[in-house]
Amino acid sequence: MTRRTQLELARDLDKVLFSAEQIAARVRELGEQVAQDYADRPPLLVGILCGCFPFLADLVRSIDLPLRVDFMGLSSYGDDTASSGVVRTTKDLERSIEGEHVLVVEDIVDTGLTMRYLLDNLRTRRPASLEVCALLHKPGPQALPVRYVGFPCPDAFVVGYGLDYAGRYRNLPMIGSLRSHAR
Ligand code: PRP
Repeated sequence: MTRRTQLELARDLDKVLFSAEQIAARVRELGEQVAQDYADRPPLLVGILCGCFPFLADLVRSIDLPLRVDFMGLSSYGDDTASSGVVRTTKDLERSIEGEHVLVVEDIVDTGLTMRYLLDNLRTRRPASLEVCALLHKPGPQALPVRYVGFPCPDAFVVGYGLDYAGRYRNLPMIGSLRSHAR
């Protein structure tokens, strides 16, 4: 992306919450932590499409361990800024996770609806262990076990680095809150 395109897209942001440099540094730390914790049991990373793709791509390259990757597609926001309350599966895993050390990789845990649905679903498939790594976590009443958190997320509608509004802004290298005129 050229600097010009980046600036044009970033103009729709109210505020940059996490710069590309901050994200890169934190993702490296998360990768090192995961590598330490899984040193004796190579993990299977399960990325949740679509929002996870930049985070997962950077995270796997920061984990100095043999690992494998699979994907699930889940959607609940559609083109809206509020959750529809219904989680739709758009893609299932390619393989069984029975006996695997599964680490779910998400861009954001917001209301927690998606993650609760996902964890309930994955537990029935009998993984050896099941943990969550989310780049952003909105503090709230969800009480979900998110083992690895990149940043606590302020209460705003956030876009960039995989996070979208109506499919846009996923390619911004930073994360910011979206101006109301852009919605
Ligand atoms: C986003 C995000 C999470 C979910 C979090 O997905 O990627 O999966 O919402 O929100 P929640 O905690 O309130 O459930 P979305 O439905 O927007 O699909 P996308 O990843 O394809 O953008």
